[in-house]
Amino acid sequence: MADGRARVAASILDSDLSNLQYAVHRVQKAGADRIHLDVMDGHFVPNLTFGAKTIKHLRPRTELPFDAHLMVDEPGRFLDEYLDAGCDSITFHVEIDEDIAPTLRRIRAAGRAAGLAVKPATPLSALEPYRELLDIVLVMTVEPGFGGQSFMKDVASDKLLAARDLLSHKAFGAEVHVDGGINRETAEFAGGLGVDILVVGSALFHKGRDMAREIRLIRALADEGYQYTLNDGVPPIPRDRMVTFTSLPRHIARRFMDEIEAGGVPVVMLRGDGQINPDGIRDYDLLVPASTETLVRERHTAARDAYERDADVWREEFIAEHGVIPPPGPP
Ligand code: DX5
Ligand code: ZN
Repeated sequence: MADGRARVAASILDSDLSNLQYAVHRVQKAGADRIHLDVMDGHFVPNLTFGAKTIKHLRPRTELPFDAHLMVDEPGRFLDEYLDAGCDSITFHVEIDEDIAPTLRRIRAAGRAAGLAVKPATPLSALEPYRELLDIVLVMTVEPGFGGQSFMKDVASDKLLAARDLLSHKAFGAEVHVDGGINRETAEFAGGLGVDILVVGSALFHKGRDMAREIRLIRALADEGYQYTLNDGVPPIPRDRMVTFTSLPRHIARRFMDEIEAGGVPVVMLRGDGQINPDGIRDYDLLVPASTETLVRERHTAARDAYERDADVWREEFIAEHGVIPPPGPP
């Protein structure tokens, strides 16, 4: 997992489409974080690419997550095929005529991330009615249909920060994607508007350029933009770093973990270096993603103190009843 905050999703639209297996290998080797799959049906956009069947065949060829970007008229009609193909997230356009909410619900019910995309001329307010159903907002900074077009800076300025607000209902894991015209010239600007995922197509496939270096550069520039524009010069925290919130005896830790997770924050429970309890078993550590630490403190500090007191009472009672059981020795 790369350091820092921004992630690159490689669009293979501009690769040699006769050899997609090679394209996904190549972007994986170059360090891309995801693969962005541009599906076009020749109706919603004046271009035709590939569909669910191609994605299904590509699925076993790489371990990278698949983000499907469906530029099609009827995503709902064909949704099962894209779910079956193994897409990790599915994003489709708000400008379609089909009903939108049921499709978003089905994507989420299948355990995948659900997203809506907006063309440059579509206002973000079009997404308002669906905000509670969204994991991803994809802002298009070129007209959908073709790779290799120029980045629309005004669209990015208008929409990228506002897209973050649309996802405020999600405590963790919400993503703003920027798609179109991202390269080493535009990455810093987009990063400064807080995007999580930069979709990069043609910039990766320029002849004579080192793809791995291009990906590192784009990520680093986006993080710089974030650091200086949004974060008072503080370097962006790695998104996936976990921090210990508390350590508790196992039965109490489990209960508290469920409570925190009910608020949408994933918790990892680990048998850590905590103190050894009278039952001979060490305390378990509860870890939360660094990006949620402030939120978790705000929400759960009072409960944490109460659970820590419960743990003390339990320890005393255990000793009164059973004495102290020595920890299991080395095997
Ligand atoms: C355009 C696609 C984009 C595009 C990105 O319709 O959605 O994903 O391929 O390519 P570049 O980075 O070349 O704009
Ligand atoms: Zn795309």
